[in-house]
Amino acid sequence: MTPERLDVDQALARMQKLASRTWSPESRHHPGQLAWSAAYGEPDVLDLGPAHVLEDAWAWLESLDWLEVCGTDPTAVDAVVVAALAEAADEVTASTLETETAVIGVLADHGFTEVESPWFTHHHLDLDGLPAVDLPEGYTVRAVRADEAEARAAVHRAAWSPTSRVTTAAYERLMATAPYRPELDHVVTTTDGEWVASCCVWLDATTGVALVEPVGCVEEHGRQGLATAASVSALTAARDAGATTGLVCPRGDDGYPGPARLYRRIGFVPGARTRTYRWRRGD
Ligand SMILES: CC(C)(COP(=O)(O)OP(=O)(O)OC[C@H]1O[C@@H](n2cnc3c(N)ncnc32)[C@H](O)[C@@H]1OP(=O)(O)O)[C@@H](O)C(=O)NCCC(=O)NCCS
Repeated sequence: MTPERLDVDQALARMQKLASRTWSPESRHHPGQLAWSAAYGEPDVLDLGPAHVLEDAWAWLESLDWLEVCGTDPTAVDAVVVAALAEAADEVTASTLETETAVIGVLADHGFTEVESPWFTHHHLDLDGLPAVDLPEGYTVRAVRADEAEARAAVHRAAWSPTSRVTTAAYERLMATAPYRPELDHVVTTTDGEWVASCCVWLDATTGVALVEPVGCVEEHGRQGLATAASVSALTAARDAGATTGLVCPRGDDGYPGPARLYRRIGFVPGARTRTYRWRRGD
């Protein structure tokens, strides 16, 4: 059982297919999350490592010291983890959902031990229960158009950080990465046309799961329900396109509780959390 070693660009579609085939509320990876992780910045800035891929498992060195693993068959998971560790940095961190027993078992077999770290809680929402979009006066919400990468990247940076890696060129690349769909990427604008909040939703048409990633609102317009409105609007479009379940993965630890509150107010229900493991070569 020898995994294929591929650049992530070449491997992405296969990685997404396996994530989709094995998706459940107990699994970490969604095709949209993989698209985001592979394309949210320009390639030379992200410096992504290779993926080791089998039919039933993959291990991706998102960077040489950060490992992502997918699969439920321990033998296949073991083979891809062995291949990845052979070319990893001397210290590697991996994050899994606490319910991914096959992956956690293989990581433990190879000497990974759990470490303290900020963690994330996956939240789910039956989209039948989605509330109506509710916007304060002076704002509208709409889908972006395929030619609006520059403004879309700018509103993301304005909410997150001026040094964010989400440049115009990166967003153009992201928009060309499946399963991105502009009709599921929503922005809130002022009546003057200023872009102030955004939410991108990624629909996995096979599972009907619509992932919210990322959400932002610029600080000057905060706490008026704009990020909530962008999220509800994009999720409504996803439901219209066939989605049945919403998924979002905010921080679960006490260090940054705001986003989880936002999503729970929409109706998202917390599920499994992430756990972080570390490995050192030679330990
Ligand atoms: C987090 C963020 C998206 C919130 O945007 P927003 O438009 O201010 O959010 P909303 O007004 O829709 O907030 C709805 C609810 O979420 C919770 N919430 C939002 N921001 C919060 C904060 N900073 N602290 C505590 N609770 C917060 C509150 O319950 C809020 O309701 P309330 O204002 O009536 O108390 C925005 O601050 C942001 O872009 N931050 C940087 C990027 C980020 O963290 N994105 C989310 C990652 S998953």
